[in-house]
Amino acid sequence: MPSIIVLDSLSPDGIALLDAAASSGITYEVRTGLSGDPLRDALASHDGAICRSGVKINAAALAGNHRLRAIVRAGVGTDNIDKEAATRQGIVVMNTPAGNTVSTAEHAFALILGLSRNIAAADASLRSHKWDRNRFMGVQLAGKTLGIVGLGRIGQTVAKRAAAFDMKILGYDPFLTQERAAELGIELVDTVRGMLPHVDYLTVHTPLTDETRHLVGMAELPLLKRGVRLVNCARGGIYDEAALVEGLKQGIIGGIALDVFEVEPCTESPLFGMPGVLVTPHLGASTEEAQSQVAVEGVGLLIDFLSSGAIRHSVNAAAIDPTQLESVRGFVDLAWRLGLLLAQLDGTAPRSCSIAYRGEVAGRNTRLVTAAFAAGLLESAIEDVNIVNAEMLLRERGIDLVEQSRTDPGAFSSVVAVDIVSGSQVHRAAGTLFGHSMPRLVQLQGHRLEAYLDGILLVFTHQDVPGIIGRVGTIFGQLGVNIAQMTVGRTAPGGDAIGVLNLDATPSAKALAAVMECPGIRSAQVVTLPAAGQLPGWLAGAGSAQRSRPV
Ligand code: NAD
Ligand code: MLT
Repeated sequence: MPSIIVLDSLSPDGIALLDAAASSGITYEVRTGLSGDPLRDALASHDGAICRSGVKINAAALAGNHRLRAIVRAGVGTDNIDKEAATRQGIVVMNTPAGNTVSTAEHAFALILGLSRNIAAADASLRSHKWDRNRFMGVQLAGKTLGIVGLGRIGQTVAKRAAAFDMKILGYDPFLTQERAAELGIELVDTVRGMLPHVDYLTVHTPLTDETRHLVGMAELPLLKRGVRLVNCARGGIYDEAALVEGLKQGIIGGIALDVFEVEPCTESPLFGMPGVLVTPHLGASTEEAQSQVAVEGVGLLIDFLSSGAIRHSVNAAAIDPTQLESVRGFVDLAWRLGLLLAQLDGTAPRSCSIAYRGEVAGRNTRLVTAAFAAGLLESAIEDVNIVNAEMLLRERGIDLVEQSRTDPGAFSSVVAVDIVSGSQVHRAAGTLFGHSMPRLVQLQGHRLEAYLDGILLVFTHQDVPGIIGRVGTIFGQLGVNIAQMTVGRTAPGGDAIGVLNLDATPSAKALAAVMECPGIRSAQVVTLPAAGQLPGWLAGAGSAQRSRPV
């Protein structure tokens, strides 16, 4: 008889569904506040687990677990679950991505209003019996500029509310098209730094990633418009808390509202004693409606999975036949790497993208390969993207993905060619497999070449004149950066050319500047790809799990 463990407090509506599941033979127990051995033992004695963000399900908590088949996160962020460890052990991780969107957007807006009208400070003052009407002069929102970083579900919902308040909205998200932004009344900007001098309010709605960590730090303080009010209802660490303290002290920042903190729970912070600061203890999703929706949806996901094997909203697993995966595994890896490459070469929101199969691969089932390309494109920007949800996430952002196939062979027995169109630019790449599993780049921006698709790449465009390769080699030699392989493609002698170096280390800014100074070189860009043989997290566990196996 399948059993479920509830690891964080869940809305009564979710518990009622669990009670009702007894009639289909599913039992449950609630044990909150677990960690260490008790958590590991509890997980090992149930088939399914459901949690919010309180419990931390790390690799140690899953070690040696031969029973658990699914973990459901009632909420969005799955950063409290080690998904790689779960995948490796064949445990499906699912979430409820949309249930708390509106509540969180409303909380962000409540913070924006609360900051503007000093609600919390005025409330505290009056409760201490002071009738002080001069100290709490506010500002109105109409006519002010709001900057939104991250325009996914919550960012877009905040934008709609800001428009109703007659605010001007600037936005930045690498994966939102101009067309979709225009529909929402958002003026897209090219960089976050570019928007900082112009915004009266800044709110962030991205996951915490290497790119978003300390998006506003010490270095950004001089760029901020004086008196700006900053809001974070996404994840702690997107703003550098030390820089916020400094910005407030210097009078650069006019107000800060935080729902999330670098370390949670957070009960001590220098910010707590400072005027102009409004804080809540991670309450974005804490409404009756949101908690009911995520609990009901989450329990539903778990019961469906345990009773029929149905997988929805998986963040680590695809419900596909392992045999089918085996026949395209190398191409899945290749397409994922091509997606990662193009995302880095472009860096702005594509309007459309395409993938074309030629030769023997076109005769196989390429559905997963296309999905892997989409996952690679989105991976740096969107949390928990995988081959299950990537195409849907592209569509949600208004980005078309076109697939084409032809079985007659070209220069290689199989080629996967991809492109993305963004603004007036088109970026193209094509790859093949050497053997069954060694991805190689065989075309870039229309030029034929041959490079490894792993590790650190320097991609530089130049005019095909004598001496360029030698000069670049000398620069890296002098600066101690070893070149593992070098390849050049050109349209015609003396014409446009592109070089790709596979490097053993990331070149310094100095090395890049020296390359850019070489006569004839037009651009130079570093691209970082996963090491050879390193599979995406959502693929890594496939083939080794013993349960109903995720991919
Ligand atoms: P989402 O995936 O729908 O949207 C995230 C967006 O961020 C995507 O559109 C992505 O393209 C964009 N993005 C990623 N990297 C970026 C970058 N470097 N610069 C600009 N944009 C970037 O997610 P969502 O449901 O809108 O949730 C947003 C965040 O809010 C998540 O971190 C989530 O965990 C958090 N959240 C917090 C609470 C709370 O209680 N405070 C509740 C729900 C969600
Ligand atoms: C989420 O990611 O869903 C939120 O942070 C809300 C929560 O953890 O309760």
